[in-house]
Amino acid sequence: MNILVTGGAGFIGSHTLIELYKAGHTAVVVDNLSNSNPESLRRVAEIIGVPEIPFYQVDIRDCEGLEKVFSAHRMDACIHFAGLKAVGESVEKPWEYYENNIGGTLVLVDVMRRHDCKNIIFSSSATVYGDPVEIPITENCPKGQCTNPYGWTKSMLEQVLMDIQKADPEWNVVLLRYFNPVGAHPSGRIGENPNGIPNNLMPYITQVAVGKRKELGVFGNDYPTPDGTGVRDYIHVCDLAAAHVAALQCFSQSPSHSVTQTHIYNVGTGNGYSVLDMVKAFVRVNGVDVPYSIKPRRAGDIATCYCNPAKAKAELGWQAKYGIDEMVRDSWNWQRQNPEGY
Ligand code: NAD
Ligand code: UFG
Repeated sequence: MNILVTGGAGFIGSHTLIELYKAGHTAVVVDNLSNSNPESLRRVAEIIGVPEIPFYQVDIRDCEGLEKVFSAHRMDACIHFAGLKAVGESVEKPWEYYENNIGGTLVLVDVMRRHDCKNIIFSSSATVYGDPVEIPITENCPKGQCTNPYGWTKSMLEQVLMDIQKADPEWNVVLLRYFNPVGAHPSGRIGENPNGIPNNLMPYITQVAVGKRKELGVFGNDYPTPDGTGVRDYIHVCDLAAAHVAALQCFSQSPSHSVTQTHIYNVGTGNGYSVLDMVKAFVRVNGVDVPYSIKPRRAGDIATCYCNPAKAKAELGWQAKYGIDEMVRDSWNWQRQNPEGY
């Protein structure tokens, strides 16, 4: 298939491009580079062994720009990563988040349907479950109250895409609810490249390890978890990338199979690790020190979040292959080789 990858220069998008090409697909990337560097695409091409990845520096809110891309390429499907994703920033700038993430997706979907491309995989998030009513979380777990505008954009966009699919069954919609992506391509050539102070645990750990930050603040050690620190379902980004390729099979099933159905999958490993589990694994596997101190809880955090990934295994034949050791090894390998990012 030829796949439009929005946000393809970013962390998860760049890793997904590699898995797509490995599986024999081709891709066209649209990204406005608001949170990425085109060097990632150059390195992806190098890893795959192609001269270049077709790339358009276009904002998904730019209808004319997208029209040109669709006129130049026949697309079979879209994997839609483009969006703003900083939880804290979304609280400060809710309008910008709703406008970019929701406004952008509405424009994208409109252009797609005009070009008769009605297959979309959307990057959703475990955040749509809010404080989950069951652990491990299955896809039947009801959605919950999000604690920030970023989370609401994901929850609302799921609804928007489901409604569009219901009204026009020619649409095939796949919602992938990611748990906590970490790690990097084992080559160390591409990885997560946050701007400024990292919000997320793993890039903070790697920046402490490489000497860019003094110590990790552990946000709370009084949660009802085995060691008191928050528990999450960390997933290697290469496993997450492979889940997108597996999900493409939803588009080749007979139309009768997918009528009035949106496919929803949790994408995690099913294992919960605490903040201190991650720190200890990082130190053990990489032989580097990660000083930390306990800080107050971070507003909006929940105690425990991990999934039951059985549905993706049963229906897509996908399951995570990498464990915690590979996650911390590859995160460090990327950071060590690229202390300043791209
Ligand atoms: P990222 O910021 O590295 O990648 C997103 C890309 O989208 C960036 O390259 C950015 O420049 C681009 N972009 C943003 N707005 C755009 C616009 N209007 N037009 C065109 N391009 C635009 O983030 P990521 O970690 O790779 O996340 C990819 C997707 O997965 C996002 O939708 C994110 O919300 C979702 N997600 C991420 C996580 C996570 O922890 N990383 C967890 C759950 C869901
Ligand atoms: N944490 C720290 N110190 C830090 C950063 C994080 O102790 O400096 C802790 C948090 O309190 C939490 C755990 O590490 O217990 C993971 O925190 P992250 O910020 O890495 O991840 P979250 O689970 O809070 O959220 C992430 C993404 C969201 C996404 C969610 C579910 O940031 O966008 O995973 O996919 F919605």
